[in-house]
Amino acid sequence: MSAVAASGPPSAVLCGLGGWLPSRVVTNEHLARRLDTDDAWIRTRTGIRQRHVVDPGQATSDLAVEAGRRALASAGTGRVDAVVVATSTPDHICPATAPAVAARLGLAGVAAFDVSAVCTGFVYGLASAAGLIAAGLAERVLLIGADTYSTIVDPLDRANAIIFGDGAGAVVLRAGRVDEPGAVGHFDLGSDGDHTEMITVAAGGSRQRSRPGEPSRRERHFSMDGKAVYRHAVTRMAQSARTTLSRAGWKIDDVDHFVPHQANLRILHSAADDLGLPRDRCAMHVEDIGNTGAASIPLALADAAGRGALLPGDRLLLTAFGGGLTWGSCLLTWPELAVPAHSFGQPAHSFDQGEHETS
Ligand code: COA
Repeated sequence: MSAVAASGPPSAVLCGLGGWLPSRVVTNEHLARRLDTDDAWIRTRTGIRQRHVVDPGQATSDLAVEAGRRALASAGTGRVDAVVVATSTPDHICPATAPAVAARLGLAGVAAFDVSAVCTGFVYGLASAAGLIAAGLAERVLLIGADTYSTIVDPLDRANAIIFGDGAGAVVLRAGRVDEPGAVGHFDLGSDGDHTEMITVAAGGSRQRSRPGEPSRRERHFSMDGKAVYRHAVTRMAQSARTTLSRAGWKIDDVDHFVPHQANLRILHSAADDLGLPRDRCAMHVEDIGNTGAASIPLALADAAGRGALLPGDRLLLTAFGGGLTWGSCLLTWPELAVPAHSFGQPAHSFDQGEHETS
C-alpha cells in the first residue's frame, strides 16, 4: 500500500462509478390505468413522473451485476478484494446476494456480504467498505447499492406503488490517502429501532415464520406510514448532515453538491431548506427513476457525473434516511473519474400492458 500516508490507516478513495436501470419504464399514466390516482397527484406529492421496474424473473442480483460491471470498467480494474451489496430486497432470505454477484463478476473467492439498512444501505456500505480498507483487509472494494422494490410493493397499493422504482448503482473504492480527491471523509451513522414498524415488510422473516398460519396480503407486502416517515426523514437527514459537517469543520457554504437519498422531491427540498442550502445544489434524479432504495445515491452520482455536473475538487455531502429507522451521512471531494454519459446501459422502453403483479 505504497500510496498510503505513513501517519494513519489507509483511507477509502472513490475510483469507479456505474449504474444500471432495468429497461421497463412505468409512467404515472401507466399507474393511473390500474390505480385510483393521476399524474398531477403523484407529481405534486412526490415529484416523480416515471420509474424503471424489473421484468418477471429478474432479481436484484441481475441489476447489481450490471452496475458492478460498469463501476469496475470506470475504475479500469477487474479485481477487488471484497464485494459489498447494500439491499433490502435480496434475491433470497438466505444466503446473502453479494457472493452470487461476486461470482458472476468473475470474483469468486473474495470476501462478499450484504448490508441491510434499507434506504441508508449505501452510506452504511460506504462505512463498511472504508472500514475494510482502513483495517488493511482489502485494497479495493466494490460496493453496490441495489434494490427491486417492485418485488415487495403491492401493485394495488396506490400509496407506495407510485414512489418506488428498481435499479442499482455501484462504486469502487481503493486504499489511498485521506487528503487526496475521492477520499471518503467524515461519517455520521445512526438508528432508532423504536420505529421498526414505520417502514416494514411484516412477513417473511423469523417473527412471522415462527407463528402458525399464513400471513395476510398486507403482511407479505411493503408497508410505510408515509406521513410519519416524511417528518422523520427531513429531521434526521438535516440533523445527520449537520453533525457530519461539524465533524469535518465544513460550513454549509462549503458544500457544492448535496446528494441525498432520492426519497421524493418534497423531502429533498425540505431537507435542503432546513439546512439552508440552495435547492439548485441538491442532486435531483428522483423524477426520472423514483425512489430506488439503496441504489439511489450512487445512481444520483452516476447521473450527475454523466452530465458533467460533478467537477474534480467539488465537495459533496451524501445523506440518507431509511427503514429501521436508519440514517447516515458522509463527505467526499470529487475525484477525476471516467464516467460515460448515459452510463445506465440499455435504452429504456415504455411499458404498456401486462405488468406483473405479486399476489
Ligand atoms: N393518488 C391519489 N390519492 C392518493 C394516493 C395516490 N397515489 N395515495 C394516497 N392518496 C390519498 C389518500 O388516500 C388520502 O385520501 P383521504 O384524505 O381521502 O384519506 C389523501 O390522498 C391524502 O393522503 P396522505 O397520505 O395524507 O397524503 P400525503 O400528502 O401525506 O402524501 C406521501 C403521501 C406518501 C406522498 C407522503 O406522505 C410522503 O411523501 N411520505 C414519505 C414517503 C417516502 O418518500 N418514503 C421513502 C422514505 S425512505
